[in-house]
Amino acid sequence: MSASTDVKRIIFDCDLGTDDAVALYLLLLAEREGKVKIEMIICSRGNARQYHVCRNVVRMLEYANRTDIPIYRGSYDVLLPSTFEDQNYHGVDGFADLTYDEEPDTSIIRSESAFVAMRDLIVNNPHEITMIVVGPMTNCAILLRMYEDVAENIKDIRIMGGNHHGVGNVVQAAEFNFHMDPEAAHIVLASAKCPMHLLTWECCNINAKTPMSWRLKELGTAAAGKTWQLIHRAESKIYSKPKEHWHPCDAYLVATLLYPEIIVDQSMEHVDVELAGRLTRGQVAIDHMHKKKPNVNLIKEIDYKFFEKIIMAAHTQL
Ligand code: RIB
Repeated sequence: MSASTDVKRIIFDCDLGTDDAVALYLLLLAEREGKVKIEMIICSRGNARQYHVCRNVVRMLEYANRTDIPIYRGSYDVLLPSTFEDQNYHGVDGFADLTYDEEPDTSIIRSESAFVAMRDLIVNNPHEITMIVVGPMTNCAILLRMYEDVAENIKDIRIMGGNHHGVGNVVQAAEFNFHMDPEAAHIVLASAKCPMHLLTWECCNINAKTPMSWRLKELGTAAAGKTWQLIHRAESKIYSKPKEHWHPCDAYLVATLLYPEIIVDQSMEHVDVELAGRLTRGQVAIDHMHKKKPNVNLIKEIDYKFFEKIIMAAHTQL
């Protein structure tokens, strides 16, 4: 299907985990409404090893009856040997380690190179393809390094990761996606020649305050579709340990693409990533002196009550 020019054509690069799943859920709905076309999904290591991420993506598309969407294995690991143990925040398998009656059919995962597929799509459709990156930026960095003709042909890159006040989550001063592969984040931020949008950790946790009690009660399974019920099973389990707020970081990023009016605070900044800091490896460094040309639109706050309305309306649809 040749998408019309107003349809956002998406490469979804993920480490599907539960908030990646909520993000993909919104994209699947948006595709049904003709707003986007999900051209392909690329799996990375992040919330879980890539093996599990691939299984989680296949299973979610099976539940959504959308196994027509091409799935590819990206890089199976981050660029440098990771220096810390798997966090397993979303469970060892990245999706709450649930049990199922059936195994996902991973034979549908494409055997061709993800990087050849992404490059061909981008170069054959100049300035039409949006990359959404909601895990470590390993695949995007490798893509930009492998092919010289990709950087100037991507329409834009939308990233969940990093921080703008040095607030960490996986370590004290760095956000998980950027801490997991700082070199990849640095390469993308330094090499991309298209607009980039970066939604930070503080945008998700300091400025968004959806109570977890609201998430588990209001977005339960009473009226939910089969796909949301899968997500709810996983989130209910990983959030059974008391947590005050729900932070669907990746879904916030997708919401800024689908509903730009949700953004409350954003600014053009030059950002880079610390690679060697004993305490700050993966932290975002903003050029506050404005001596360098801005390279990202930094998204620092969204209207989380607006997001609650979006997801409330969405969770019964699929
Ligand atoms: O720090 C939050 C990010 O790390 C989200 O993308 C989440 O899925 C994990 O990858």
